[in-house]
Amino acid sequence: MLRVTIRHYYDFGTDRAIVGDDLVRPDAWDRLRTKTSGVFAIPPTREEFVQTAEGRADIAGRARAIDAWLEGRGARVVASYGVGGAALEWWLHKLRPRRKLIVTDYGEATVQRLVETFPEVVVRYHDLLRDEPLVADVHLFHRIDTELTNREWQEVFTRFARVPILVVATEVLDLRRLLLELRLRRRMKLRHATKAGYLRSSAAFEALWRPTHTSHPIRMHDLSSWELRPRAVGRTDSARGLSHTYEPLPDRRVRTRAAEPSDVIDHLRKGDRTVGGLSRHHEGGLQRPDP
Ligand SMILES: C[S@@+](CC[C@H](N)C(=O)[O-])C[C@H]1O[C@@H](n2cnc3c(N)ncnc32)[C@H](O)[C@@H]1O
Repeated sequence: MLRVTIRHYYDFGTDRAIVGDDLVRPDAWDRLRTKTSGVFAIPPTREEFVQTAEGRADIAGRARAIDAWLEGRGARVVASYGVGGAALEWWLHKLRPRRKLIVTDYGEATVQRLVETFPEVVVRYHDLLRDEPLVADVHLFHRIDTELTNREWQEVFTRFARVPILVVATEVLDLRRLLLELRLRRRMKLRHATKAGYLRSSAAFEALWRPTHTSHPIRMHDLSSWELRPRAVGRTDSARGLSHTYEPLPDRRVRTRAAEPSDVIDHLRKGDRTVGGLSRHHEGGLQRPDP
């Protein structure tokens, strides 16, 4: 499929008053994590945190796949970004307690709650839009793809150009899913649903890091993922503080101007696969942000 990026919405029902009209802000995520009690909340006590994480069989399966992959790469230090409730990271820790795990988020209340409930790992405030990569063998982006625009992601990958990354996608748009999103769009608008980031096709994902990393698609249990290696000459292990010669490809930025859904459908109907970089945000429909 072509490069397609669409905005998506989520109907939080009675929690909408708490979250507001745009989820992708640190204060909105913090309120969702600490002022609601549903699937998105981070439990306030250690006991409930562990109980909640252990109850996630889907995440346990994915963690096993990620753990095996990390072992294969000999990763001794892993930094995971935008961890939210950190259920995946709980499982990664449980499976391999000797591996050092650094968990980060940009919600201050989220970070504080993790400090209190998850003492086995290093918890850090980190804003992907601003901060440099932490010192680690592998950098994990687990279901945070929805959070940034294409331009923002390109800036992140440029800042992370010298480090290996594992991207685990929330969801990859195919034609069926795209058409469903577009159909639900009107309903979401009528319900004043909350803006909840972006969804992308596989080609749109790969365009984000093409100037800085080579990638290899892999399946992590139930989710599409990519292993990213820096397009750098020499060693890339930042944990050992080695210097690198970095030779990125010329920057071919993905266009991000807004387009109407009909634009995308037209291109898809025509089967016009020669259209380079059709990567346009437009408003989609129901999509569940991941708890
Ligand atoms: C969809 S949730 C995913 C949480 C977790 N990784 C998971 O898979 O359950 C997205 C998370 O990214 C965080 N986030 C969004 N923008 C961020 C940024 N600029 N820097 C760091 N974290 C960010 C949010 O606070 C939220 O916890």
